[in-house]
Amino acid sequence: MEKSAKNNTYSVALRIFHWLNAATIFFILLTVFTRKEWLEKFKIRDLILDFAQRNDLIISSEQAYQLAKLVRNEIWNFHYTLGIFLAILFIYRLVLIFTKDGKRVFKEGFSVFKSSKANKSGIKIIYIIFYIALFFSILSGLLMHFDDFFGISAQTKKAMEALHVGIVTIIIYFVPLHIIGVVMAELGNEKGIVSKMISGDKENKTS
Ligand code: HEM
Ligand code: HEM
Repeated sequence: MEKSAKNNTYSVALRIFHWLNAATIFFILLTVFTRKEWLEKFKIRDLILDFAQRNDLIISSEQAYQLAKLVRNEIWNFHYTLGIFLAILFIYRLVLIFTKDGKRVFKEGFSVFKSSKANKSGIKIIYIIFYIALFFSILSGLLMHFDDFFGISAQTKKAMEALHVGIVTIIIYFVPLHIIGVVMAELGNEKGIVSKMISGDKENKTS
């Protein structure tokens, strides 16, 4: 007999995927915020120029700008390493579709379009949207990163970057919404949902 949704758990393989995927995306987001905010190139350029002026150093605005980009890229390069790791994790998640726990989210998510809706199918469709966005983020990212290998022109790369930035916005919004969602579920009528994703079916070991 199929377990009730409340008693459903997550296999070790899926939990490993979940936390590695979450950690990788978290660090990718850190590289983005570092590039866009904390080590933003014009901000660092101005800091360098200010420092040079106060210490009687001669450096042109263009040199300060290039130096700022060098500093920023030290962190930004992790974006690519983490991106490639994310692609490997995605392939691992595809393999998990062949397992019972790994296909549940897709079964329940797509049931939102059927007359017999599974429990929480409305929420599960968000995960499907997330996975589709993740796929296109990875695809566009890899194509840009290995542009020479794929013979991608500078113009196409520019268009692809716009696409990449557009799609990753879904992921950027998903993360806080998801965390708020699971915390609310945990505090509401789905007590134990977070521990199910950490240690398995602790709270609901009834069968
Ligand atoms: C970058 C951060 C995160 C991402 C990208 C993420 C992504 C996901 C995805 C894609 C699923 C569906 C899993 C499946 O394929 O079946 C999921 C489920 C889940 N996640 Fe996360 N997650 C993140 C952070 C967190 C955090 C911090 C928590 C705990 C506070 C958490 C708790 C859960 C739980 C409890 C579920 C199962 C929810 C359900 O059954 O509806 N996640 N997450
Ligand atoms: C959660 C997934 C991802 C997020 C949130 C994300 C976010 C971003 C953002 C916001 C930009 C634009 C930066 C700017 O405007 O200056 C960008 C650019 C880029 N990303 Fe991603 N990305 C993700 C995944 C990937 C992956 C998997 C790769 C593959 C290696 C990748 C490779 C790139 C490349 C090559 C660029 C072009 C910008 C450049 O390097 O100059 N990204 N990404």
